[in-house]
Amino acid sequence: MSDRLYIFDTTLRDGEQSPGCSMNLDEKLRVAHALAALGVDIIEAGFPVASPGDFEAVHRIASEVKGPTIAGLARAHPKDIERAAEAIKPAAHSRIHTFIATSPIHMQAKLRMSPDDVVEMAVAAVKQARSLAAEVEFSAEDAGRSEMDFLCRIVEATIAAGARVINIPDTVGYMTPNEFGARIKELRERVPNSDKAIFSVHCHNDLGLAVANSLNAVENGARQVECTINGLGERAGNAALEEIVMILRTRSDRFSIETCIDTTKIVPTSKLVSQITGMPVQPNKAIVGANAFAHESGIHQDGMLKHQKTYEIMTPESVGWTTNRMVLGKHSGRAALKSRYAELGAQLDGDALNAVFEQFKRLADKKKDIFDEDLMAILEQGDDVAAERIKLLSLHAASGTGDTPVAAVELEIEGKSHKATAEGDGPVDAAFKAIKSMVEPNGKLLLYQVNAITAGTDAQGEVTVRLQDGDRIVNGQGKDTDIVVASAKALIDALNKLPGMHAKEVHAQYSGV
Ligand code: KIV
Ligand code: ZN
Repeated sequence: MSDRLYIFDTTLRDGEQSPGCSMNLDEKLRVAHALAALGVDIIEAGFPVASPGDFEAVHRIASEVKGPTIAGLARAHPKDIERAAEAIKPAAHSRIHTFIATSPIHMQAKLRMSPDDVVEMAVAAVKQARSLAAEVEFSAEDAGRSEMDFLCRIVEATIAAGARVINIPDTVGYMTPNEFGARIKELRERVPNSDKAIFSVHCHNDLGLAVANSLNAVENGARQVECTINGLGERAGNAALEEIVMILRTRSDRFSIETCIDTTKIVPTSKLVSQITGMPVQPNKAIVGANAFAHESGIHQDGMLKHQKTYEIMTPESVGWTTNRMVLGKHSGRAALKSRYAELGAQLDGDALNAVFEQFKRLADKKKDIFDEDLMAILEQGDDVAAERIKLLSLHAASGTGDTPVAAVELEIEGKSHKATAEGDGPVDAAFKAIKSMVEPNGKLLLYQVNAITAGTDAQGEVTVRLQDGDRIVNGQGKDTDIVVASAKALIDALNKLPGMHAKEVHAQYSGV
């Protein structure tokens, strides 16, 4: 009989803390629905006391997303716990996740509290949380560097106070696998009431060991793993959900333990999170990287043709890679489009189908073969249009050897047309300068990245732009068969997310090119 591992996804909390990964309310809801469809057991939806926006996101997710338990993070402070309780209230299954640091360095240098006071505060927090929510999880922050005797003491006290999940975070990614697994084993053996709680782990990846440490903990009795899609998270990130789940499944001979994850939804969820956060997935990333199932060398290709198992330990289909088959072209009709979208999990009818069909026809005029990725891109762009304060009306760019690249751009900014031209180091640079001359604030460019969505020179280019304005960092995406247009769309998408963005009074003159 195999055992059950609970998957606690913290993409929307720890993942969102990755530099440049902040998401707006609508984006968080889309990710939360995708996580529910993926089959995670617990969604940590945010840190409600952190800001009104965080509170609202947790509250909306708790109201709308059915299936998983919805957790809200809270420091061991009464105000944090009250806000978390209020935010998660609408959920059918909810959890307060409260934490306090337990390592000597954190208690002395950060909290400036004695160990006795830390225990007292943790116990008070768990009791308060227990009075407000059905389920309470307690985390001993920096448990990896905490003294074992003290860790045993605080774990015993918080279980006695009502915590039913005890999370042992390796907050700074310092542990090695055997050492971390031994900690879980020792806690389970030494803490007298340990059988009353589920032990959980939350590993950071500073030394690249987050997944290995989590798995060693599972081998030593942990039954909840906290992880994120694509391994997002503070600094080097958290343990990657897709790796944990696929290791358990592929090596079921070693781990007789199951999760409730629908593995065929892993790649679509990874793509959604990458697209929304603007955080690309490295091509050689396990499971979800573009090269994870690509076989380049002749020897490997020969082996694969003879038997798939020669070089593949799991199938690409099992994690949701679809063969990049051509599905539709410019002669395809509405019914074929509707049915293909249904196969991709999107039910479209009426106006929604009409709007998407129009965009599909426009793309099919420019591009012969329409792939699944193109259809998903159309769907995602359609969502974005509603929130646009700036729209791209036209763009003409000229460049060539020996010529100074120039771009002329016309934007609609809050209903009024604005035009500008600019020269640049290339057509993209010229287009960015023209666009930026028309709006303020226009942010500092932190990242500019281009990917081809599908193969071929007529592929749609997918551009990600990251802008910083003060302490606000936003991402924008744009897709088009013309890379300069895709870049302009990405910049405009990011500008649309900058608070207070408006038309500049004076900008570069439009001359037309
Ligand atoms: O890394 C950490 O310790 C955390 C806790 C809040 C669980 O994110
Ligand atoms: Zn963390």
